[in-house]
Amino acid sequence: MYLVVGGTGAAGSRIVAELVSRGMQVRVLTRGNRRAKDDGVSFVRGDLLTGAGLAEATANVHTVIDASDGKTPRSQRVLTDGAENLMQACWASGVERAVLLSIVNVDQCALGYYRAKAEQERLFSTANRNNVVVRSTQFHEFLGMMWSTPSRARVLPVFTHTSFQPIDLRDVAAAVVDAARSESLGAGSGRQQITIGGPEILSMRELARQWTFARQAQGKTRHRALTVPVHVPGKFGAFLRAGRNLVPDDAVTNGVTFGQWLSEK
Ligand SMILES: NC(=O)c1ccc[n+]([C@@H]2O[C@H](COP(=O)([O-])OP(=O)(O)OC[C@H]3O[C@@H](n4cnc5c(N)ncnc54)[C@H](OP(=O)(O)O)[C@@H]3O)[C@@H](O)[C@H]2O)c1
Repeated sequence: MYLVVGGTGAAGSRIVAELVSRGMQVRVLTRGNRRAKDDGVSFVRGDLLTGAGLAEATANVHTVIDASDGKTPRSQRVLTDGAENLMQACWASGVERAVLLSIVNVDQCALGYYRAKAEQERLFSTANRNNVVVRSTQFHEFLGMMWSTPSRARVLPVFTHTSFQPIDLRDVAAAVVDAARSESLGAGSGRQQITIGGPEILSMRELARQWTFARQAQGKTRHRALTVPVHVPGKFGAFLRAGRNLVPDDAVTNGVTFGQWLSEK
């Protein structure tokens, strides 16, 4: 049995679908009230922050996959305190492996959210030598999320001297499930971390051009949004301009490109 924490989220729901497509038994931890679905996925109600439901969720589970998130400064404790509670429950239930979805070079940026993710990685790696961290570049959705609201005012912020290597969530899910099942990772192999990135590295300006073009072609807007150069200040800006968000050597070469993802939307 696999437990997917954050299995109702953007990445987590793709991971659940990938496990189901490979014939695996899946349980999802959620704070919500969900009923089992026709695909056999079951749900346990619980909360990483309070620890409620974690014993029930991890019972008879051999592998836990964590794709939970706390995006705001208020909810970031899910990543740290939540990981601590989850690791304790895994230990008590005898879970063999926990796999964490993380971000490339997250330990090289002092942004608060990145610091919390780095601490979450540390908690996973030290809890059990069999655990694995999968570090990914930004999802295609990350750019969509950044642009959907300002584009209504016909403005697209474009970070100067910044490129992205966006990745499709189906490619992320496949890599996470492969890592969960791989015998060449974790205890004994000396490898507790893998890194994946999207198939192409494009400037943010080019990605914005593709995004606007697709929106116009799909009739979502008649007007072309104006790209506005933005110099991102601080440590996160320096991280991006240094290309620390890119992993050219670990690209998913046959993965879904940003352009393909846009045309499917
Ligand atoms: N965005 C990117 O470009 C990117 C790139 C690389 C890695 N990542 C990582 O991918 C992960 C998933 O991100 P996402 O955007 O897919 O997340 P998301 O859609 O925001 O989903 C968050 C999930 O976390 C769960 N959750 C939140 N608080 C919880 C709590 N207290 N107890 C239990 N579950 C809780 C939610 O479950 P319920 O609401 O059902 O309880 C939900 O399923 C994150 O860790 C992120 O750092 C993101």
